[in-house]
Amino acid sequence: MNTAHTPALSQDSSTARPLGVAAIGYAFMGKAHSNAWRNVASFFDVPAFEQKVLVGRDATQVAEAAAKYGWAESATDWREVIERDDIHVIDICAPGWMHAEIAVAALEAGKHVLVEKPLANTLAEAELMTAAAAKARARGVQSMIGFNYRRVPALALARELIVEGRLGTVRHVRAAYLQDWLSDAESPMTWRLRKETAGSGALGDIASHAIDQVLFLLGDAVTEVTGRLQTFVDHRPGEAGLEEVTVDDAAWATLTLTSGAIASVEVSRVATGQKNSLKLEIYGDKGTILFDLEALNELGFLDATVPVREQGFRRILVNEPEHPYLEAWWPQGHIIGWEHTFTHQVRDFLLAIQDGTQPSPSFEEGLNVQHVLAAIEESAAAKSSLIQLSSTTEGA
Ligand SMILES: NC(=O)c1ccc[n+]([C@@H]2O[C@H](COP(=O)([O-])OP(=O)(O)OC[C@H]3O[C@@H](n4cnc5c(N)ncnc54)[C@H](O)[C@@H]3O)[C@@H](O)[C@H]2O)c1
Repeated sequence: MNTAHTPALSQDSSTARPLGVAAIGYAFMGKAHSNAWRNVASFFDVPAFEQKVLVGRDATQVAEAAAKYGWAESATDWREVIERDDIHVIDICAPGWMHAEIAVAALEAGKHVLVEKPLANTLAEAELMTAAAAKARARGVQSMIGFNYRRVPALALARELIVEGRLGTVRHVRAAYLQDWLSDAESPMTWRLRKETAGSGALGDIASHAIDQVLFLLGDAVTEVTGRLQTFVDHRPGEAGLEEVTVDDAAWATLTLTSGAIASVEVSRVATGQKNSLKLEIYGDKGTILFDLEALNELGFLDATVPVREQGFRRILVNEPEHPYLEAWWPQGHIIGWEHTFTHQVRDFLLAIQDGTQPSPSFEEGLNVQHVLAAIEESAAAKSSLIQLSSTTEGA
């Protein structure tokens, strides 16, 4: 199997060694990331790299996955892989409880790190990772968190329109991320339903994405938070009979931003009928933007500066070469999907490594989200009282 990806981009081939990549985890995100590593060089000009090692716990299963997803080898001990001289990039697709340990070890070993969201399960772990990332950056070692929705072309376009002032002053944002895979009370226990392995429930899992979008789109930071958490099904069938669910099924929050804008965030994994519904609405004094992940090639835009009798939402098909990332794909109107966001993510990460620049979202940006998640939990524990946040920095 050919796992080397030769770049179209001119590189000094006499000195440049292909980057050796290892991914840790081969299930949901491991598959999505592998797909991205496998096709990125077919569409984008990226530095040369090799899909070297896929890491998992079960030797047979990870070997099968490695062969299927285009990795040259498989391994079961991530520590050994991190020590290898031919590995330069570690892509962490393992559950949240492992992020800090792997990321800090990899950064200290001089490896560039891409880690799935949320940055960590706790604020303390996220702070440790961010400090390790800052130290590594000083040595030219890059790190990035996988908030892949930043790489939906329509949302990248939304960000451009907001930066250009097309919405004027943004007054409020509605962000909702709703799923229903836990609606059935008989759905079994998994690592995602235990606080010690997942950190939190819908909050860390999907509110992290929604909050990152608010920070990304507005380029702003959160100053105040209210929150509420609810677990509707508190026991689920596990290997040892009924087990206690120790995380939330759903969460609600309001966020105040430094600009004075207010965002409402609503997330659930028991919203019956909603499969993976991420919806964003951004309301400014000069216009409005609407986004729905179920129609991710489209952006709704209302320009309130045109005469009112001509106003109305236009549906922009974000599929032109002029739109972010689209030039590399198909002719106009040949739409793309969810998996492309991971390809864009790998592309941006590789280019940042090549250029020696800090990729975004950085671990600092991941930590900002983590502060908001922690404040939502703090507020929820105090009957939704208003929590002040002072430590977050600019989100974009
Ligand atoms: N960006 C997104 O849209 C998105 C979607 C889903 C999950 N995620 C995030 O991705 C991460 C992984 O979630 P997932 O859904 O892929 O989980 P998963 O349960 O499907 O996969 C976890 C993988 O980690 C591996 N793993 C566990 N312990 C390991 C160890 N000690 N050594 C090596 N491998 C080990 C497992 O074998 C498995 O392959 C989480 O942080 C999650 O929040 C992100």
